[in-house]
Parts: sequence; structure tokens; C-alpha cells
Amino acid sequence: MHSVAITGSGVFTPKNIITNDELVATFNAYVDQFNADNAAAIDAGTVNALAHSSSDFITKASGIENRFVMNKDGVLDPAIMHPTLRQRSDDEPGIMAEMAVDACTQALLQAGRTGADVDAVIVAASNHERAYPAVAVEVQDLLGINGFGFDMNVACSSATFGIQAATDMIRTGTARAILVVNPEICSAHLEWRDRDCHFIFGDVATAVLLERAEDATGDHFVVKSTRCASQFSNNIRNNDGFLRRTRPDGMNDRRDMQFMQNGRKVFKEVLPMVSQHMADHLDDNDIEATGLKRMWLHQANKTMNDFIGKKVLGRTPTPTEQPNILQDYANTSSAGSIITFSQNSADLDHGDLGIICSFGAGYSVGSVIVQRVRANKE
Ligand code: COA
Repeated sequence: MHSVAITGSGVFTPKNIITNDELVATFNAYVDQFNADNAAAIDAGTVNALAHSSSDFITKASGIENRFVMNKDGVLDPAIMHPTLRQRSDDEPGIMAEMAVDACTQALLQAGRTGADVDAVIVAASNHERAYPAVAVEVQDLLGINGFGFDMNVACSSATFGIQAATDMIRTGTARAILVVNPEICSAHLEWRDRDCHFIFGDVATAVLLERAEDATGDHFVVKSTRCASQFSNNIRNNDGFLRRTRPDGMNDRRDMQFMQNGRKVFKEVLPMVSQHMADHLDDNDIEATGLKRMWLHQANKTMNDFIGKKVLGRTPTPTEQPNILQDYANTSSAGSIITFSQNSADLDHGDLGIICSFGAGYSVGSVIVQRVRANKE
């Protein structure tokens, strides 16, 4: 059995930023138009009037201030309110592959590797832009990787589940080096016309390179242990899929063809599940939570993260112990914990321990305990 290490990571950040104020201005313009168009039905009591959103609520309820998106014009047009993306020909790289290649290239650079050193690509994300061929095989081709690739989806936990799959394959000798990449175009599955959730998501792509620890040449993180768990729940659900046209109504603009959640229930049910999962995982590895240098948590909601951090540590973690990036990126599904890891890990000292933990639809929860290795201290 080989010891496995994360030797590189990368984050692709889209160029367009949407602030809460911009988002709320569009949402409120949409609401005013909807209420004007439906005034008679609203007066007759057959249609409910829509209420305005507010930046203050969004910041207080979620901690989110901005989000990056692949397309801003469509999202901010009250008559459209979703991203509009150019149709690419089959001979061009797909948009998800393009985002993935950018993040992978950064991860390879950090590790001092090229595609020729890699055996496999796992595209682990909440949504994939087509049914087949797998985006991972396209990424593999674009990076000149001789080996194999596959797509997988465990919603917000896709990255940690992907890291576990890659770690197990490297540990047992199926592959020497694997890229796990998370291109997330959450703006395309978000219902921007729903006041309860229109502020939640943003777009990004993250990647990590996993290799045999013995092959690592620079500073890296040894993967000490991974753990995944899932438990069925309908509280975060999206009914879109390849059976869409088979349904009687065609389902083209039905609310459940986009992200739906019962936020309150998610909050209440996922918190104990995640804190217990992390506590048990650490305990089974004889690691005291107080001995952790850092927690890189899924980035969905600041209050939720503060609660989990406090529960696991037994006291309120400092921003250094538990950094958040969701004020800048919003919820980026599986990529959130990896953005946090990638942007807040270089300072750790030789021997420092940390935990990456994601949670979301399924329900699913995945944790990865890592230990910093400084190349010059070995
Ligand atoms: N602007 C202004 N007010 C709003 C609003 C908006 N955009 N959305 C809701 N409100 C109001 C509601 O009408 C309600 O008002 P009332 O008390 O007068 O009825 C109040 O704010 C509270 O609404 P609620 O839906 O209960 O908000 P919340 O405090 O539960 O926060 C979430 C909403 C979504 C931020 C929170 O539930 C959450 O983060 N849940 C977990 C989400 C999660 O992690 N999902 C995983 C996705 S992968």
C-alpha cells in the first residue's frame, strides 16, 4: 500500500463578479414586473404577489457578499435571469473542460508535473454539461494524459468523494497520479427568480493532484485518512435529467428543474451529521480536534460553518483556524472546501494537521485528514 499526497492544487476564477446589490436590483426589478403583469390575479387572490429581496438579509443569513459567474448579462437581465452561454461546436473544448484544464494546469504547475506524469482524471462535480462522452475524458485529452478518466457526482461532496476514490486507487496501485477536478457552473442550476435561494451560488473550478507520497518533490500534504457517508434526503433536490422530454408536460420551465432546497431543514439536519462525522473521523485516527491547525469546510453558509467549527473544536475557531471564502465566491458546491484549502494552506508548518470537509445534497458528507510535509524538513 502506498502513502498518498496532495502535491498541487489550483483554482480557476471566472472574470465576472456580481455583488449582492447588483443581484438584488435585478431580482427586485423582476418582482416589480411580475407583480405589475399579474396585478389583476393578485387582486383576485389567485396569484401571490412576490416580495423584494435585500442585500442586508443575504449578508446576514448567508455571509455571502459576491459571487463569480461565467456569464453576467443573462443573470442580471430581469427578462432572462439565467446565464446565457455560447453554443460551442463539438470540435471545440466544452466550457466545463476549459475551466477544468485551467485549474488542473495550476495544480500541475504547483506540483512540478505535466500531463505526461498523470494516469487519470476524475471530474467530480454537481452537474455535467452533457451525458457523454465524460468531461473527464475530454480533460484527459486536452492535457495529453495517457490513461483514463471518468465523471462522478455527489453534489457538494463530489470533491471529497473524488479525493477518496483517487486516494484508494493510488494506494492500491491502480494509478500513480490522479487529477481530481471540480468545474462548477452553479449559476446554470440556480433559480435566480426564487427569493429564498437566488443569492446562494457562484461559479468556479478547483483541482487537486494526488500522487504517491514517495514521488512528491516539493511541499505537499499527506492524506492520512478519508471518510465518506451518505443518507437519502429530498431536502436538496433537482429533478432535471435525461428523462425530461418523456414527462407529460415537457417540464421546460418547471421550478423543480433547478436547484430546490428546504434550507431550514438542511440547516438543522446536516449540522449534527457533519459535526459527528468529523469528530468520529478524527477520533478513529487518534487526533484531538484541538490538535488541528486548520479546517477547510464546505462553503454554503457562514453561520453553519461557525456552528460546525465550534462543535468540533469545543470553542469558536479563529478565522485562521477555519477560513471562509464564501463572502467572495458564494456557495460553489463541491469546489468550496477546495478553494479554501488551495488559498489557505501554504503557510502550514511541517507536521501540521488539517481536515477538509464537505457536505450537501444526498445528504452526503466527506472528510479528508491531511498532514503538511515540508520538503526541506524530511
Ligand atoms: N430577502 C429578504 N428576506 C428574505 C429573503 C430575501 N432574499 N429570503 C427569505 N427572506 C425572509 C423570509 O421571508 C423570512 O421572513 P419572515 O420571518 O418574516 O417569514 C425570513 O427571511 C427568514 O427566512 P428563512 O427562509 O427561514 O431564512 P433562513 O434564516 O433559514 O436562511 C438560508 C435561509 C437558505 C440562508 C438558510 O436556511 C441556509 O443557509 N440553509 C442551509 C443551506 C445549505 O447549506 N444548503 C446547501 C446547499 S448545497
